[in-house]
Amino acid sequence: MGVVSAQLQVISYPQSKVRSTGFEVVEVELPALQPEQVLVRNTWTSVDPGLRLRLRKTAPAGYFTSFPLHAPMDGILTIGEVVESRAKGFTVGDTVWHAQGWRQYAVVDASVEQMNGLGTLKILDTTNTPPQWYLGPLGGMGLTAYAGLSVVRALDGGERVWVSAAAGAVGAIVAQIAVEMGHRVVASAGSAQKVSWLLDEVGVEGAFNYREESPRAALARLAPEGIDVYFDNVGGEHLEAALDAMRPFGRIALCGSVSDYELAAVGPRNLFLATAKNLTLAGFRGGAHVHLLDEMQNLLGTWLREGRMTYRETVYSGLENAPIAMRDMLAGRTIGKTLIRL
Ligand SMILES: NC(=O)c1ccc[n+]([C@@H]2O[C@H](COP(=O)([O-])OP(=O)(O)OC[C@H]3O[C@@H](n4cnc5c(N)ncnc54)[C@H](OP(=O)(O)O)[C@@H]3O)[C@@H](O)[C@H]2O)c1
Repeated sequence: MGVVSAQLQVISYPQSKVRSTGFEVVEVELPALQPEQVLVRNTWTSVDPGLRLRLRKTAPAGYFTSFPLHAPMDGILTIGEVVESRAKGFTVGDTVWHAQGWRQYAVVDASVEQMNGLGTLKILDTTNTPPQWYLGPLGGMGLTAYAGLSVVRALDGGERVWVSAAAGAVGAIVAQIAVEMGHRVVASAGSAQKVSWLLDEVGVEGAFNYREESPRAALARLAPEGIDVYFDNVGGEHLEAALDAMRPFGRIALCGSVSDYELAAVGPRNLFLATAKNLTLAGFRGGAHVHLLDEMQNLLGTWLREGRMTYRETVYSGLENAPIAMRDMLAGRTIGKTLIRL
């Protein structure tokens, strides 16, 4: 008999907000390993807002496909330990990442490229490095932050930068890179506790709670001279406020628009300002910039190990709690990177 593995399946798509119902943990027997395959016991998996876009009949064109009902969800990146190997270069005990999360065990084809190379089976160096950092600052989150700043030419300092959802996985990294690079950073998030963390530990110059003060009013107060770079994780009214506050020739990194993943999209209703002010709005995906991965890991890895970079995570245990983790993350109840420990 093969290994029996629990996996999370979608039973029905949420109609609006994700709830703990509509998912099921199912046990399946895995096939025997074929040549070039490894069996991985997953230990950590990543909870990402983008998963919500796949919990529908049709995902946005050009993005990952939607999750079929009654089939295992695949994650974005997952960490695990090799427990059996028929693939050259992989041995029992290796810590690896790959793209088959949301399950206890995964049979992974070592030679198949996943996610433009980002999710291809890879051995991780865990010397002085907790493995789950590879789902946060040293993985897709760090790459997205670094690539987004690179795309809008903001890896040199000296400008005024606004980062939204700044206490989350990507935003907190963006804010810290921007501070380290010498920008004057304004950050926004959805609670007083997150705002305090951003000011006291991340080290941004100004921060506001968008649930208490509108982004427009807060930007007028904290950056009256306007902003040069906006790193947009939220879309909607945040993006509208940025368009109002941008200085001529400013740049906006369109990383995501989490405010409309569960609700109908709002705006931007003032898009003409992009023309009027000669702005650049650049959509991008971290996975299209895998060539920056080593550079980013070297930089952020050094900062993390030297204690120059703060990193927070919110951890849920067990596959059965994955829907709750997703719900809480989308509702803003988690801080830093949201993870499932398996
Ligand atoms: N382009 C790419 O390659 C790429 C890769 C990864 C992620 N992303 C995008 O980057 C963004 C952040 O992702 P993440 O993984 O770092 O997630 P995250 O920030 O850790 O979690 C999402 C956060 O968004 C905030 N939020 C939710 N609804 C909101 C609303 N209506 N208005 C304002 N804020 C809201 C919540 O924090 P508050 O407490 O602050 O409300 C929540 O914690 C998302 O848009 C995601 O899709 C893009």
